[in-house]
Amino acid sequence: MRAVCALRIRLAARFIASYKMHVAWMRILFKHFIAVFFHIAFISTALVFAHNSSAATAESAEKTPSQFFLGNAENGKILAEVERCQGCHSEEINDNPVIPKLSGQHAEYIFKQLNDFKSGARKHEIMSVMAADLPESNLADIAAYFSSIPIMHGEPIDASALAKNLFINGDVKRNILPCASCHGNSGKGQAANGVAYPAIGGQHRKYLRAQMVNWALGERTNSAGGVMNTIAKSLSERELEALCFYISGL
Ligand code: HEC
Ligand code: HEC
Repeated sequence: MRAVCALRIRLAARFIASYKMHVAWMRILFKHFIAVFFHIAFISTALVFAHNSSAATAESAEKTPSQFFLGNAENGKILAEVERCQGCHSEEINDNPVIPKLSGQHAEYIFKQLNDFKSGARKHEIMSVMAADLPESNLADIAAYFSSIPIMHGEPIDASALAKNLFINGDVKRNILPCASCHGNSGKGQAANGVAYPAIGGQHRKYLRAQMVNWALGERTNSAGGVMNTIAKSLSERELEALCFYISGL
């Protein structure tokens, strides 16, 4: 009887032990299941996110007005030599005050101007000919090259309060929007929302002046909505002179 009893107790103990093992295993498996579940959930969320963000990049790339960013700056450097652009626009020799500096100019802006010279939307004896000769496929490369050079800078000058105030605050009741709102506080321009605002800070004073006069007289009309014509027409001769002096020193 004692032996039977002892056997039952042992069996019961073994049963309890195996039950405990079972529960322990179930716990481990459950924990693993949860971990695997979260891993799968995390990886699939990450994949969906990555897919969405690459789709967003592709979409915003399509919205850009030009394909400039696909331009190859190295090839553009060679083309700028071959096509003789460097004869006039090279950084080293560009001290002619009516030939604009192109160093660091926004690729989108250069690309647009070359197209405008080609189509006649902007007119200039030399540049219309130079651009007409340029194969379409080379425009992006040339634009990419000039924009890859460190951006133009002027010599700091003692600017008048009149010029500084017009540049930063404009005179909105006279239709003079602040230059800084589009060309940036230091005049280094930007490409935003499909519009290319050129760098003007550090550009040759004479070139700036010539363009402002062209805008005022309506001889240049290629700014979006004619905004530059409206602004230039509203400036007095004294204001225009002071502004160009100030901007060339930025
Ligand atoms: C003989 C000199 C000369 C040569 C060569 C020349 N340019 Fe020009 N370029 C000018 C002048 C002058 C202007 C200013 C036009 C104006 O006053 O409207 C200009 C303007 C430009 C502008 C507009 C800049 C701005 O700030 O609006 C771009 C872009 C440009 N040139 C690119 C080129 C490229 C690219 C080449 C080579 C294919 C080239 N140029 C060859 C003289 C030259
Ligand atoms: C609402 C935006 C806006 C404001 C404000 C503005 N600009 Fe512009 N400006 C432009 C755009 C856009 C262009 C380029 C147009 C084109 O595509 O040819 C431009 C071009 C120019 C150019 C020609 C640059 C070159 O390299 O040929 C000059 C100079 C200039 N602006 C000066 C000024 C001055 C000075 C002021 C302030 C009194 C001013 N801008 C205010 C948008 C603006």
